[in-house]
Amino acid sequence: MKKPNLEQIKSEAETLINNAEDLNSLENLEIKFLGRKDGEITKIMHGLASMSLAEKKKIGPEANEVKKKIESFILQRRNELLGKSRPNFDYTLPPKELETGHLHPITQFMRKVSDVFVSMGFETVDGPEVEMDKYNFDALNIPKDHPARDMWDTFYIKNRKDLVLRTHTSPVQIRAMGKRKPPVRLVCPGRVFRREATDAGHETNFYQCEGLVIDENISMANLISTLRVFFKKIFGGDVEIRVRPSFFPFVEPGIEVDMSCLLCKGKGCSACKQTGWVELLGAGMVHPTVLKNMGVDYKKYSGFAFGLGIDRFMMLYYGVNDVRLSYSGDVRFVKQF
Ligand code: DAH
Repeated sequence: MKKPNLEQIKSEAETLINNAEDLNSLENLEIKFLGRKDGEITKIMHGLASMSLAEKKKIGPEANEVKKKIESFILQRRNELLGKSRPNFDYTLPPKELETGHLHPITQFMRKVSDVFVSMGFETVDGPEVEMDKYNFDALNIPKDHPARDMWDTFYIKNRKDLVLRTHTSPVQIRAMGKRKPPVRLVCPGRVFRREATDAGHETNFYQCEGLVIDENISMANLISTLRVFFKKIFGGDVEIRVRPSFFPFVEPGIEVDMSCLLCKGKGCSACKQTGWVELLGAGMVHPTVLKNMGVDYKKYSGFAFGLGIDRFMMLYYGVNDVRLSYSGDVRFVKQF
């Protein structure tokens, strides 16, 4: 094989490439020099096999050098041509559909609930998710070994008998009253945990919003009218509420408040266990023992409390039929809000 003139090929390639008028001719030049079958450099590389060892050692690296040079000529010219074909291209503009994150529907909804209560004169209060069992249970009139504890399937903390993952946001009202004197109006939104089987309506962790009002002459009528106004502010009056007597150790009397299922309009679906009603909150008049545990003079003051399930409420509001979607981490779900 004739000894290839690599220097000459290189300078020829450089001239031709720099003079290429458009991307098409540039591509043809790439094929001419580097094409996998008949490219000039490729042919030289293939020719190495029939050369002597000394030639191979000299020409091999040289050919490689020239190949890299030609590649860089092509890259540079391609960038020039690309810039020329889009002279007004502004590299500093953001892409058209820049995706930004947003708040999870539960967070959005929880803020909405807090905002409504704040507009009604409530303050918002926070509490810990890992809670002392004396706040989660004892102070709420649920003594140790009392069967009422079975109402909450509880996650306990290993080797810590005094700690639980809070099963409800009710303990926050006790903590809050450690630092306040009546009259109070407060809500405590937050995450709670239950050791239970999951289905369309149940999750092992979910969100609640506890409410507490303590003042003189507070009655059941105040409780029901407060909740009515709240529901009206959220749903615009397009909703029915029903109240049933119920039992919770920390209130007396206790009630449960259901709302007509907005998903199926009362016909029955998986979100409302086919009943047409969704249980949204437990409530009642604060038990005198609990008032006493809060350090409140229960002869002078009375109060009401309620615990609202945020997840189900959010599901009704947005028309979501499975609570597990909220915790699936599936962006196809969260992107819809
Ligand atoms: N803490 C209760 C639960 O998680 C809900 C509840 C019921 C809260 C009645 C209250 C109440 O404040 O009065 O099951």
